[in-house]
Amino acid sequence: MSACRSQLKLTVNGQPATVEAPPMKRLLDVLREDLGLTGTKEGCGEGECGSCSVRMNGQLINSCLVPILQANGASIETVEGLAIDAELHPLQKAFLECGGAQCGICTPGMLMAATHLLAHNPHPTMEEIREGLAGNLCRCTGFIKIFESVVAAAAMRAPNAR
Ligand code: FES
Ligand code: FES
Repeated sequence: MSACRSQLKLTVNGQPATVEAPPMKRLLDVLREDLGLTGTKEGCGEGECGSCSVRMNGQLINSCLVPILQANGASIETVEGLAIDAELHPLQKAFLECGGAQCGICTPGMLMAATHLLAHNPHPTMEEIREGLAGNLCRCTGFIKIFESVVAAAAMRAPNAR
């Protein structure tokens, strides 16, 4: 291990992972470059757009703002962890069916923000959905179809679903 790299351990989508990286390398880049999880997207790179949203220890975070050192030992959930085998997560199905995704750059972040919202509030009102996704920007959809997708996903989820 070189002097400027650290060995870091984290759990990603339930699987243990070890990376050697500069401690200030962004979690976003470690996910994409070191772990090959390119579902998480970079938009602004400065905490403004939510494209890079993942969950860390159950909190929704912008992975472009988190140095990997800060994620050492953490449990990270990314968009790749939503589908189980070939079965899409209800939110993914709803985004497909309701037209919640167009170019798709914002979609992984939207899905993670919506996952976070539904984990805490399984049946949010439209206002709560707007608030829950307020940190995520979309340049394509006008937002309404995204909000409708979250409503549809909430309706299709079983009471104790993810
Ligand atoms: S890329 Fe992280 S908030 Fe925009
Ligand atoms: S679908 Fe293109 S930015 Fe949201």
